[in-house]
Amino acid sequence: MNVLPLPAGPLPGLGPLADREIAAHVAATAVWAPSVHNTQPWWFSAGGHEISLHADVGRQLMVADPRGREMMISCGAALFNARLALRSLGYIPETSVLPDPGQPLLVARMRWHHHAPTAGFEQRLFNQVLRRRTHRGGFDPLPLSPRLLAGLQAGAEHDRAMLRIIDAEGRQAVLAAAVETAEHALRLDSAYVRELASWAPPPGSTRCDGVPHTAYPARPERTRPHFASRDFAHGRRWGTSLSSPSTAPRSAGVVCVLTTAGDCPLDWVNAGQALQRALLTSATYGVAAALHSQPLERARLREFIRIQLCDGSYPQLVLRLGTVTQAAVSVRRSPASVMFANGGEHLSISHG
Ligand SMILES: Cc1cc2nc3c(=O)[nH]c(=O)nc-3n(C[C@H](O)[C@H](O)[C@H](O)COP(=O)(O)O)c2cc1C
Repeated sequence: MNVLPLPAGPLPGLGPLADREIAAHVAATAVWAPSVHNTQPWWFSAGGHEISLHADVGRQLMVADPRGREMMISCGAALFNARLALRSLGYIPETSVLPDPGQPLLVARMRWHHHAPTAGFEQRLFNQVLRRRTHRGGFDPLPLSPRLLAGLQAGAEHDRAMLRIIDAEGRQAVLAAAVETAEHALRLDSAYVRELASWAPPPGSTRCDGVPHTAYPARPERTRPHFASRDFAHGRRWGTSLSSPSTAPRSAGVVCVLTTAGDCPLDWVNAGQALQRALLTSATYGVAAALHSQPLERARLREFIRIQLCDGSYPQLVLRLGTVTQAAVSVRRSPASVMFANGGEHLSISHG
């Protein structure tokens, strides 16, 4: 997919990039963020040296996510990508998050004026934007580098979030049980099942959003302890066949909960930025992540996790990290379809 041509900064002989090209590069990078059920709940407006990221409530999960928490986490992840895109061009993003209380869906405004050379780690993170994929299943039984884990925790703090590693077996088992309980409860909720089905296109679909059958295994893999996966196929045997025919449980990987001190839209956007920083940093080490938000969509289970496992801070996402050979393929809407000029008309951008 030729979705992310990297304009190589001011090219010799070609002059600096036009604002329109910069905005196009930012949007083309941002859309590759993870989002709940791949709803891609965002759109962009651009003009001059400025691009804004907006949440698209038309894509909010009204049943699973009535407060828009997961929608804003998804937008936060897109914001991290957008900032990284500006850094990849050597621009310093001047970012205001939720800049206008009168426009709660205006997630962020970014301006670019000043330059600083792109750091090596920024370029490495940028290089993972297209490669990173959500994993659904178990991991190889290999320990992760303590340096990576410390780096992930420091990165989350930088975004005003906290990555809590749940390493005690008993606590992992409690968290796994909460995921499983939530998964069972959600499968009994017909409105939830209908909503999930509307974001799980069948094989052969040409849709550019939702979770395609190429993104999850046909036979859910068991992990120890077992972290139940979302039932995207709803018993229809969609999904990819696993590379390993073994049915032995695999490692659950390093189990973490991403938390924030508060639970308002700014905390959700911060959590999204922290999430994407952690996912891209992990990817630079060849480490993939499986995400579980099922128990955080049930108020009582979320409260249980908050009190029992998170010292009272607010759980925003459950992650498992590990090494694995990945084959998942995801999809995105074209950047052009989510990009508007500040006046409101569609910005036509080339895809390179
Ligand atoms: C807030 C949020 C919640 C998510 N929850 C889950 C989840 O419960 N189960 C899951 O398999 N994936 C979950 N995901 C991952 C998305 O399904 C995934 O990002 C999307 O399908 C796009 O695929 P990609 O990450 O491989 O690009 C979540 C992502 C976000 C941002």
